[in-house]
Amino acid sequence: PPRMRMALCVAFSLKACILGSISEASKYLIEALQSVNELELEDAIENIIDAVEKQPLSSNMIERATVEVAVQECSQSVDETIEHIFNIIGAFDVPRYVYNSERKKFLPLSMTNHPAPNLFGPARDKAELFRERYTILQQRTHRHELFTPSAIGAHPDDNGSKFQLKTIETLLGNTAKVGEVIVLGMITQLKEGKFFLEDPTGVVQLDLTLHQFHSGLYTESCFVLAEGWYEDQVFHVNAFGFPPTEPSATTRAYYGNINFFGGPSSTSVKASAKLKQLESENEDAMFVFVSDVWLDQAEVLEKLHTMFSGYSSVPPTCFFFCGNFSSAPYGKNQIQSLKGSLKALADIICEYPSIHKSSRFVFVPGPEDPGPGSILPRPPLAENITSEFRELVPYSVFTTNPCRVQYCTQEIIIFREDLVNKMCRNCVRFPSSNLDIPNHFVKTILSQGHLTPLPLYVSPVFWAYDYALRVYPVPDLIVIADKYDPFTVTNSDCLCINPGSFPRSGFSFKVFYPSNKTVEDSKLQGL
Ligand SMILES: *[C@@H]1O[C@H](CO)[C@@H](O)[C@H](O)[C@H]1NC(C)=O
Ligand SMILES: *[C@@H]1O[C@H](CO)[C@@H](O)[C@H](O)[C@H]1NC(C)=O
Ligand SMILES: *[C@@H]1O[C@H](CO)[C@@H](O)[C@H](O)[C@H]1NC(C)=O
Ligand SMILES: *[C@@H]1O[C@H](CO)[C@@H](O)[C@H](O)[C@H]1NC(C)=O
Repeated sequence: PPRMRMALCVAFSLKACILGSISEASKYLIEALQSVNELELEDAIENIIDAVEKQPLSSNMIERATVEVAVQECSQSVDETIEHIFNIIGAFDVPRYVYNSERKKFLPLSMTNHPAPNLFGPARDKAELFRERYTILQQRTHRHELFTPSAIGAHPDDNGSKFQLKTIETLLGNTAKVGEVIVLGMITQLKEGKFFLEDPTGVVQLDLTLHQFHSGLYTESCFVLAEGWYEDQVFHVNAFGFPPTEPSATTRAYYGNINFFGGPSSTSVKASAKLKQLESENEDAMFVFVSDVWLDQAEVLEKLHTMFSGYSSVPPTCFFFCGNFSSAPYGKNQIQSLKGSLKALADIICEYPSIHKSSRFVFVPGPEDPGPGSILPRPPLAENITSEFRELVPYSVFTTNPCRVQYCTQEIIIFREDLVNKMCRNCVRFPSSNLDIPNHFVKTILSQGHLTPLPLYVSPVFWAYDYALRVYPVPDLIVIADKYDPFTVTNSDCLCINPGSFPRSGFSFKVFYPSNKTVEDSKLQGL
């Protein structure tokens, strides 16, 4: 070990990093390298350094966690890499991280004293839901350049920053006018027609008569940065803006390689050079997204025939089919008829052996498919509805709504919900200029870090599983399967697409190529 310690120190200091000879990181490394024979030691250290360098470092000091990731990556077996290529992650399997304000870190649920989530959790979960939505946005907003001290080395108590974020509590105590403040809070309507701003420290009434809105869809239960002055117990708003968004690379630079997203990899797949290489090499990878796959309609099945026939020579990696899977309203025969239409779909797929053999099929249930009401996240279609299909088409997964997909280093969130119109209907004020609704919509989702930034009476959520609807860190692709017109919008290094309703949009759908991250609009022409 002394020799090894020397070798490590030399190697790492050449890289201009500080690895204290008794630090946690070096202790770990020395242990990890015990089993490596002397001849291979130098190579092993080189590989680890390469892996360390690929990770975003928050300081020159290498922490144990960083080294652990590097060692794991170097020792990852081929089997493990294969297992990490493509994964469908149900909402109930998303890992839960809780932000710890004192340590300024996200901690896995197991390291906190939170109880495990429960579908019908206590009322405390509801208060916690909004507190957590707030905390995530607060830590992100705080480090945005708008609010960080401009002079490097400034004392943290100095007010060298351009703006000061205040809590509501600090306003409420004042009898005199308080000017020029910015508050991060949630818009609520406690009394009909009267809006309030709420944060974990208090509630203040808003006067919105003078305000201007920056772009976005401002709904009740959205978090905003409100700029204005406080006087006579009312916060007079000059302007509303959304908390600034942050590309995932920035989030990772702060929090390292935590796997926030889920799936089998112990660390973020973004850190894996092997997966990155597989991703760019596999140019044939192709995902097809279709929504409102009304399997009870002959015309829809006909169009799927056409689609499979068109793709039979180049089978896509995966078809993502979103519900509703029937066009007819609820009835006591719904389950039986859905089983029948899934069987019909399986028969069609079996007519195209190349697709049956090579493509995967993922099913995301819609708002009115058989299941437990409209509360999110929605569980998969029941096993006994899908068992026959799964027998005929083994490469199929019936998952939750929303669900997540990890492909190589890419993270994808899929959500089947008619959200655009719902958000427009619930706006505090509908945008008066620039009616580019898809842009407003995407900006809202990303800035809120949440798929449904709406009051719970509009979009009910299992309180204890609210975290499964987070959009933070920002994924590579969000698929909002909405009956609204199809769109493709990019914001904060995130692609956001809506395939539109297949039958209602003249059979439109979207195709995504992960190797170059491009999206193609597709449409099946009339017969
Ligand atoms: C800085 O903050 C202190 C107290 O928080 C306040 O009294 C002072 O006026 C502020 N200075 C500037 C330049 O805003
Ligand atoms: C992206 O890759 C796909 C599949 O290789 C290809 O068909 C498509 O033309 C590429 N698009 C762009 C913009 O390079
Ligand atoms: C299916 O989803 C759409 C939303 O796109 C909704 O309007 C419709 O009522 C749902 N139910 C049925 C049975 O079609
Ligand atoms: C499917 O299983 C559920 C219980 O899990 C049961 O209530 C339902 O009747 C079953 N449906 C069919 C068609 O077998």
